[in-house]
Amino acid sequence: MQLKTTQTQPSGPRSTPILGPGSIRDPALLRLITEAKRVAQLAYCPHSHFPVGAVVEAEGGELFVGCNVENASFGLTICAERNAAFQMVSHGHRQILTVVIYTPTAEPTAPCGACRQVLNEFGPRARVVSVCDGPGLIDTTLERLLPQAFGPGNLSALK
Ligand code: THU
Repeated sequence: MQLKTTQTQPSGPRSTPILGPGSIRDPALLRLITEAKRVAQLAYCPHSHFPVGAVVEAEGGELFVGCNVENASFGLTICAERNAAFQMVSHGHRQILTVVIYTPTAEPTAPCGACRQVLNEFGPRARVVSVCDGPGLIDTTLERLLPQAFGPGNLSALK
């Protein structure tokens, strides 16, 4: 697994800036990316060989990490994002500000549908950033990834 923390620009006539992890200057976000890369190395993924590292930043700035943990009974696999979110809740927090996802791939990986739904429970306004080993970067929001989400508010409608 390649764990690059900086992105170099290819030499040549190209002048268009490459938007990727290397273009991120915000030290707080860079710290989340470093943590996501670190925890991806702990992924248990003997079946897919697809490691994922995720970090959630809770209200107050505390960080919680998660990696994917697979199972021989495939459906019992848990994704990195949900692991990170559940860690946060287990430590007494209820609000996600930012999620960073790292995969050692050429293209960034957006959270799966199940993880989007779980993230919505605790971070409907969260920023979601996916980084990888290539120059690509997804920098979006949960609202964009899961429009018209079903959430706790729908349940309170009948109470
Ligand atoms: N995976 C994640 O950890 N997060 C996602 O959002 C997508 C998929 C994991 C689950 C499984 O261990 C592997 O990636 C392949 O699906």
